[in-house]
Amino acid sequence: MKKYKVAIVGATGLVGRSFIKVLEEKNLPIESYSLFASKRSAGSKLTLLGKEYEVQELTEHSFDSGFDYALFSAGGEVSKKYAPIAAKKGCIVIDNSSYFRMHDDVPLVVPEVNFDDVRNNHGIIANPNCSTIQAMLPLKALDDKYGIKRVVYSTYQAVSGAGKNALDDLKNTDNNKPLKKFPHPIFNNCLPHIDSFLDNGYTKEEMKMINETRKILHHPDLRVTATTVRVPVSNSHSESINVELEKDFEMDDLVNTLRNFPNIVIVDNPEKNEYPMPINATGHDEVFVGRIRRDNSVKSGVNLWVVADNIRKGAASNAVQILERLIQEQI
Ligand code: A2P
Repeated sequence: MKKYKVAIVGATGLVGRSFIKVLEEKNLPIESYSLFASKRSAGSKLTLLGKEYEVQELTEHSFDSGFDYALFSAGGEVSKKYAPIAAKKGCIVIDNSSYFRMHDDVPLVVPEVNFDDVRNNHGIIANPNCSTIQAMLPLKALDDKYGIKRVVYSTYQAVSGAGKNALDDLKNTDNNKPLKKFPHPIFNNCLPHIDSFLDNGYTKEEMKMINETRKILHHPDLRVTATTVRVPVSNSHSESINVELEKDFEMDDLVNTLRNFPNIVIVDNPEKNEYPMPINATGHDEVFVGRIRRDNSVKSGVNLWVVADNIRKGAASNAVQILERLIQEQI
């Protein structure tokens, strides 16, 4: 069996370290890894599957030695510059930044939902936004069975999605100490502000959810709106998703449709106070769905509460699952 060479770009970051963790959990036929970060980290050491690797500075020549695949999570500017260089050298890049996501010739992929889109890749495959990824599993399940007509997202997003400095802000309970990441305290607070504001009044995060949903579900005109909110939770995003469906449904059938979809776990026993929660989702790759109830304000509508680990399924695990399928299918 062929053994593959894999590069990890941004290996020292929050998601980069999760790439390493998730790769260690899987037994993929990878013969060698190379770890890249900025000049700042060059020479530092990271361990992967018991082997110590020296982190190398990313340069224009980093891909000269020929990699089969590269996992990128070093921000949009790094992806913009270096992903095309890697692709030109014959490497398939799985990119966690938002830079290429809406490019027509770049597949945007959640493996359980639209893996076949990777067949149109030109060397770069984009990993969707964390809050989009977890919503795609239940929405794809419902779309295939009932057709979705309109979606309203309200998110409750964890601080880890904003990086290490943001997590320091969450621990900062002293109002006199300066913040590192957010414009306001996140401790004891909620910020209806994720990524920057656009002229239309939405944030970039909200528009990512709207545009990426349409692309992944192949519904370019789907009616979708979103309000994204940062909450003082360290890890795992929660989302309220209101969905209007084309067809009528029986509640039991709808719940079974969700239950039978790969990697969805239903947690929905209100009588026992059981529903999805961030503290239970953290460390897992499944998407947890609960509080499933009919929306009586429309003809055929349902409310869902959807929780997943934003660093794992929302970033590193989704990328590694794409890599795993590429290897399995020898793409
Ligand atoms: P470094 O640790 O050397 O700064 P996070 O999103 O958690 O902040 O992580 C960002 C990742 O991207 C880190 O691994 C960081 O490396 C890496 N990175 C940032 N800028 C560059 C760059 N110009 N070239 C390569 N890697 C970079």
